Amino acid sequence: SLAGVDVIEEINRLRKERNAIILAHYYQKPEIQDIADFVGDSLELSRKAAETDADVIAFCGVKFMAETAKILSPEKIVVLPDLDAGCSLEDSCPPDKFKAFREEHPDHIALTYINCSAEVKALSDIIVTSSSAEHILKQIPLDQKVIFGPDKHLGGYIARQTGRDMLLWPGVCIVHEAFSETELLKLKQQHPDAPVAAHPECPAYIVDHADMVGSTSAILKYAKEFDGDTIIIATEPHIIHQMEKAVPEKNFIGAPGADGNCNCNICPYMALNTMEKLYVALRDLEPRIEMDEELRLQAKKSLDRMLEMAS
Ligand code: 13P
Ligand code: SF4
Repeated sequence: SLAGVDVIEEINRLRKERNAIILAHYYQKPEIQDIADFVGDSLELSRKAAETDADVIAFCGVKFMAETAKILSPEKIVVLPDLDAGCSLEDSCPPDKFKAFREEHPDHIALTYINCSAEVKALSDIIVTSSSAEHILKQIPLDQKVIFGPDKHLGGYIARQTGRDMLLWPGVCIVHEAFSETELLKLKQQHPDAPVAAHPECPAYIVDHADMVGSTSAILKYAKEFDGDTIIIATEPHIIHQMEKAVPEKNFIGAPGADGNCNCNICPYMALNTMEKLYVALRDLEPRIEMDEELRLQAKKSLDRMLEMAS
């Protein structure tokens, strides 16, 4: 039982004792974002994990992110507060099916969204994040055929942006799929001057109404800088915490789902991490991410290409 434990004090004490760094994604609960040493988007978190000289990385995000940290920093202990923090995109892309798909298309390279398992990374040529996908695609010769997985919406978006055809794996993020176009249009009518910022994991019928499309960090930057007083945010609503901290006088509205509010767009996987579980992870150095060395080295190749090409 954690009765009588001051969780915040204990996390702060253990972080020093263990020489640990706490990394958090913007979709984590506000109290986790607030205690983290660094909060960022997937690319920034990968870079931090690769660079840090801490002995322990406590990763407050989902499993593919903690695995990425382990692939890039194998000598470190990487803990994830809840090992069940998965991702619907990862689930949509089982490695054996992805391998078979690649074998059916031997003349294609695989450009793969970081939201996938280490096994799928090992089967891929280049990993991308939402912040780097378009930039990396533009570096691939036009006559090179490309498979893009597992997010069909991000793939479709960068294909439209670059005018390029890609073979799309049919995966989706259940969180970004839950936005309703009808409800978004109603909200826009109520706030005709408010821009819409959307994540590229949203379906095209949402992205088409957006004034800005980008990664969580890019959306946060836009929301801090836009000229106006109200903005509609079409991504997981926990990121609004950072916006309210940075520019408290502005009004940030989470884009709605079919029920007219943004609660159905909370990522259920990210929500599994809690302050209590973070404390226990730092205390016990469990649950830990462990990985077969051959798999790690193979997955690292495609991740290293991302780090080079994302620049
Ligand atoms: P980014 O923070 O890289 O935009 O990723 C969003 C996301 O859905 C992570 O799961
Ligand atoms: Fe996966 Fe979507 Fe949750 Fe991100 S928000 S972890 S893509 S389910």
